[in-house]
Amino acid sequence: MSGSAEGTRISVSIGERVVAWQASHGRNHLPWQQTRDPYRVWLSEIMLQQTQVSTVLDYYARFLARFPDVSALANAPQDEVMGLWSGLGYYSRARNLHRCAQQVMADHGGAFPRTAEVLATLPGIGRSTAGAIAAFCFSERVPILDANVRRVLTRWLGFDKDMASAANERLLWGLAQALLPTEDLVHAMPRYTQGLMDLGASVCTPRAPRCSACPLVESCKAFRDGDPERYPVRTRKLARRSESWQLAIVRDGRGRVWLQRRPATGIWAGMHCVPVFSDAAACAAFVAGLGDPSRHVQEELPPFLHVLTHRDLHLHPVMISGDFGGGVMGEGEWLGPDQWPLVGLPAPIRKLLDATQARLW
Ligand code: ADE
Repeated sequence: MSGSAEGTRISVSIGERVVAWQASHGRNHLPWQQTRDPYRVWLSEIMLQQTQVSTVLDYYARFLARFPDVSALANAPQDEVMGLWSGLGYYSRARNLHRCAQQVMADHGGAFPRTAEVLATLPGIGRSTAGAIAAFCFSERVPILDANVRRVLTRWLGFDKDMASAANERLLWGLAQALLPTEDLVHAMPRYTQGLMDLGASVCTPRAPRCSACPLVESCKAFRDGDPERYPVRTRKLARRSESWQLAIVRDGRGRVWLQRRPATGIWAGMHCVPVFSDAAACAAFVAGLGDPSRHVQEELPPFLHVLTHRDLHLHPVMISGDFGGGVMGEGEWLGPDQWPLVGLPAPIRKLLDATQARLW
């Protein structure tokens, strides 16, 4: 399609429509939209990976208050970075964030690179995140292709090739590039980029998309064919993976347990769960943040395996019981055994908590 007169006409039209729709219907008051400072935009994009906007807002403000610029972050102890991340989940993001800040200081004189190509060489910055930062901060004419945008574009294009293939993935990146705005890039690139994200989040949703509210409905191939939900197409099942999780069961003197809501996507999405860590160091940093160690007792419980459709989870529970007068860091709430059935607890977590309850500690 790219290069033809028809393609040019359509690409101008999708760009203009998305830009106009974003201005009137998109999100325009988020804190990271009030700046073109790449440090702030980068921080927001990393926090927003797998995490809802509503959850990110508080963390973002706290992080910036403590680390107002890339140099402050680079010079901070890792434990402090992990502590401030505590509760946001996917802790490899925090470790990469810290490494990335140090690399910006060491290799780029403290200034973030200004092109997506160079941004993508930094730890934790993939091609789509690099595109988002470059488009938002520097109006570079580069595409993004996160899960939301992939859905919008595959549907609109009727792109029914298997996204499990790297060649098809490259093809879609090429089409995404060809569809970018061509005029007034300073203004259009940030709006277009945000507009595709907003469309995917609020209109072109995975299930029951609201096509009647979509600015692209008239030219959308998937809508015309009547089955938008079949996109994006992925035939090959994801490879089975194995993961190891540390579970921190924080229990107070009244038998209540500290529970957090899981991120909106991924394993146990949106459910309540004890804090989960992908490695022992992150878990230890969380425990260190619980305050005076003489006021609680820590005990490792037997590890166990939980099998999911595409994942083997090796779960390593650690129980910390005591008095937490200073509170627990991050979002969450104390819930007692009578409340566990009322909130969504993943089955193995429910069983684990019931078992801890049956014992006198
Ligand atoms: N998710 C990823 N990037 C985002 C952004 N800039 N605004 C809202 N949600 C996002």
